[in-house]
Amino acid sequence: VILSVTLNPSVDRALFIERLAPGDTNRVLRTETDAGGKGINVARVAAELGAETLCLGLLGGPTGRFIRHVLDAEGVGHDFTRIEGETRLNISVETADGSAPTTFNELGPSISPKEYQSVQNSITERAASARFVSMGGSLPPGIPADAFASIAKMTAGKAIVDADGESMRLALGERPFLVKPNRHEAERLLGTTIASRDDAMGAAEQLRARGAIIAIISLGGEGAVMATSEGNFSARPPRVDVVSTIGSGDSLIGGFLYALERGMQPDDCLRWGVAAGAATATTSGAEICRKPLVEELLGQVVVERLR
Ligand SMILES: Nc1ncnc2c1ncn2[C@@H]1O[C@H](COP(=O)(O)OP(=O)(O)OP(=O)(O)O)[C@@H](O)[C@H]1O
Ligand SMILES: [Mg+2]
Repeated sequence: VILSVTLNPSVDRALFIERLAPGDTNRVLRTETDAGGKGINVARVAAELGAETLCLGLLGGPTGRFIRHVLDAEGVGHDFTRIEGETRLNISVETADGSAPTTFNELGPSISPKEYQSVQNSITERAASARFVSMGGSLPPGIPADAFASIAKMTAGKAIVDADGESMRLALGERPFLVKPNRHEAERLLGTTIASRDDAMGAAEQLRARGAIIAIISLGGEGAVMATSEGNFSARPPRVDVVSTIGSGDSLIGGFLYALERGMQPDDCLRWGVAAGAATATTSGAEICRKPLVEELLGQVVVERLR
């Protein structure tokens, strides 16, 4: 089973309007509401492809109940730790002119030390029989920056981390199995500039030197590079009609883990990941890829061995 940890999940509500009028009443034409959070996305993608997944993390209030319903409806397993506070609601406002959405992201509920302890216990218990423990995204108030580092430490070599800033930096020190920053996150993490594919490959090698067993750096429409103990690989996605790339990075991880659990070699895992990321780029808003399109794109992903 693939465990996927989301410590700060969200209900994502998109409001569609004609144009944004600040300080005035805006008439909403249509809304879309979905469950969000990196870990939840990773699990939904891996489950869609056919992997056995279990979502862990923190949920509370009516928003938390909504997320449980969404996962139940999709047949994605979950065993969240209940909290006193209310899971956050993130709002995005999308206008008809196709400009980037205006987003309002709540910090998330305050987590008590007892709640934090309880979710850590739940992860440790489940991790013993799990193949991988994936984690990522932001941390709610009350959760220390070393949360992913301590989960990586207690899940020894099974950890997949996709986070930004300090929490990622600390987790790297605990020898995670896989990290997958995008270009900008990798630049911030290493304090370098990534201007070319070669730069990205060098950065992935540096992430390995800092502790990751496998390092993937995703490059949006240009695909991804991967450094492993068995060599370096580069993958290019096929050209697709891009609607929204939200969740593409999470889909890359979901696809990669699905393939890895099936026993595929690293280059084929990367192929599945990149195909899943590209497939999600064709879906609207926070929607994730469906398996038929991932399978169709799979053969069109170009994977090269660099070393
Ligand atoms: N425009 C695109 N065309 C084709 N494939 C894409 C495109 N954008 C993303 N992808 C695929 O999705 C993968 C991950 O995308 P990206 O690097 O944008 O992740 P990210 O920035 O972590 O995204 P997020 O955190 O929003 O999920 C890429 O490696 C690629 O395979
Ligand atoms: Mg990302």
